[in-house]
This record gives sequence, C-alpha cells and structure tokens, in this order.
Amino acid sequence: MRILGIESSCDETAASVVEDGRKVLSNVVASQVEEHKLYGGVVPEIASRRHSEAISGVVRHALEEAGCTLEEIDAIAVTYAPGLIGALLVGVNFAKGLAMASGKPLVPVHHLRSHIAANYLTNPQLEPPFLCLVVSGGHTHLIEVQDYTQLHILGRTRDDAAGEAFDKAARAMGMPYPGGIHLDKLAETGNPDAFSFPRPSVNGAPLDFSFSGLKTAVINQLHNAAQKGQEICIPDMAASFRKAVVECLVHNTVEAARQTGAKRLVIAGGVSANRLLRARLEEECRKNGWEFFRPELCYCGDNGAMVAAQGYYEFLQGNLAGMELNACANMSVDTLK
Ligand code: KG4
Ligand code: ZN
Repeated sequence: MRILGIESSCDETAASVVEDGRKVLSNVVASQVEEHKLYGGVVPEIASRRHSEAISGVVRHALEEAGCTLEEIDAIAVTYAPGLIGALLVGVNFAKGLAMASGKPLVPVHHLRSHIAANYLTNPQLEPPFLCLVVSGGHTHLIEVQDYTQLHILGRTRDDAAGEAFDKAARAMGMPYPGGIHLDKLAETGNPDAFSFPRPSVNGAPLDFSFSGLKTAVINQLHNAAQKGQEICIPDMAASFRKAVVECLVHNTVEAARQTGAKRLVIAGGVSANRLLRARLEEECRKNGWEFFRPELCYCGDNGAMVAAQGYYEFLQGNLAGMELNACANMSVDTLK
C-alpha cells in the first residue's frame, strides 16, 4: 500500500511516498530555514506564505521521484496538529483538494506520532510496545507507545521544550537559528565540566521536565561575565549546557523504563539528532540490556516520510477524515479528535 505524506506544520514543506509504512520511495523537503534565520526564529506569516508557494511543486516532485502517479497512491496522509495554525492549514487544504479530486482516502496525522513513526522507516524490525522519548523544538514527552495508534503520556515538560532550550541558549551564545545543531557541534570541542548548571526536576512528578531555569542560568552567566569584562569560552559553555540537558533527559527516560519495565527504548524528534543524547541513551540501554532504536539523521527533523509511515498505521486503524477536516494548533498525542 502506497501512502503520500504531506507535512507543513512549521518551517519545512515536505512530501513523500512510503510503501506499507516502512519503505521510502521518495522524500522531498523544502526548508525555509535560511529565510527565518534573518529574524532569529520562525515567523509564522512568512512560513504560511512559503508553504503555499512550495507545496504543489514539492508534492509533484515527491510523486515523480517515487515513479508513480496520483492514481497509484492508495491514501493521502497529512499533518493536521499540532503546529503553527496558518502553516498547518496549507498542508491540510492541499491534501483535502487532492483527496477530493482523486477520490483517495484522507488520513489526518498527529505531528508527534509521525516523529515516532520515523523510527519505523529506519528500523524495519521495530514494533510497539516501546518507550519513546520525543524531543522536538516544541515538545518534550516521555510516551508509552502501546500500539501504533495507542499512546500514553508518562511525562512532559512543564515549560520550554528541549529543542527550544537548545535554540534559546545557542542564541544567547551568539549562534544562528536554529541553534541546537550548532550548539551540539561546538559542544564536541568544549569541556562539559567547565560550567556548573542545575539539573532541574519537578517536585512530585519525577518523569516531568523543566528547562527554562537552565536557559536562564546560561543568560545570567553570560551577563555576569560581560559586566565583569570576563571572556567566556563558548565551546566550554555549550558542552556544559548540553551535558545538563542530556542528563535530565536520560535520567527521566531511564526512570520511566524502570517504572514501566520497558525493554525497548526509542528516541524521536529534531533533538534526537543530538550526538551526546544518542550516545548516552545507547550506553544506558547496553548497561541495562534494553534494545535501543533511533531514526536515521535525515528522518529526525520534519519530513513527509514519517507522516506517510504513521498515516499507514492510522489508515489500518480506520482513522480517516472527510472534507470537514480542520487544522488544530494544539492537540495531545494520546487523544485524537
Ligand atoms: O522536530 P523538529 O524538526 O521540529 C519540531 O517539531 O519542533 O525539531 C527541531 C528542533 C530545533 O529546536 C533544533 O534546534 C533541534 O530540533 N535540533 C537539535 C539538533 N538538531 C536539531 N538540538 C540539539 N542537537 C541537535 N543535533
Ligand atoms: Zn517536528
């Protein structure tokens, strides 16, 4: 079964054709990052406009690359929540138009579910149940994936998402948007014990996260140094900050695995590309005899292939939509509308 997946929830316009939820036939991503970089972050109005301009070309390209026509597609899957509302609407309306014109089924896909499904593309043997740490620019969740479309949230961030914390700290350290990847790279050359940063936890909710204090600690240390005219070694600060964030993520993930008795650990979302996070979780899994899965780097960020992969399992479950489908800026991963 061939599914066309369409993604436009943030700043990438993406489309892909995937067979049986696992085999990628094409994967086209048009990134707007260079334009948003000028403003230090995503400008929602610009994002919507660029999606509108790019979407038909991106979808046509994805079909061509897969060597198939729209008639040879079995269903159209689209990200409908959560995300920037104007950006989501472009993908949803385009998918509705395609579904109506071609008579193909329309499958609404939750963005975080699709990030998790990126793992099905890279790891053909991976099947639920498993424990998943989803770390993106907008979300940080520990999720029990009981089945492909049955999820239970164990923990979440109370304030900033991990990716947001990386981006804000990187920006304060003078790196361009999106800073997470630059901070990760620079951290490789620094001393992770040069600066002391807190390891925040949430009272009474041991699986929840809190990152806003860490970001403030970076800003305070930078201001203090500037006031005293002291030079800060940015690679050392980046390495110390990365270590603090990763330790919080790993600590709660290991705790969740112990509590639930999970034997399989999975990471997903843009921050799952982080080198230290991948290495530390792999190490914990080896020590504890758990299996460890992560997406290939090209499927960590937003893409259409992960939407098509999750779309396949939503389709099998009968989670389809009609022309009444609307985009939704906020929606929990465990309850679909
Ligand atoms: O999942 P994603 O592409 O978009 C959302 O759904 O939010 O995640 C983007 C986030 C950004 O905050 C970006 O800085 C972060 O993922 N990111 C990283 C790395 N690569 C991307 N953060 C830390 N280390 C990385 N290597
Ligand atoms: Zn995403």
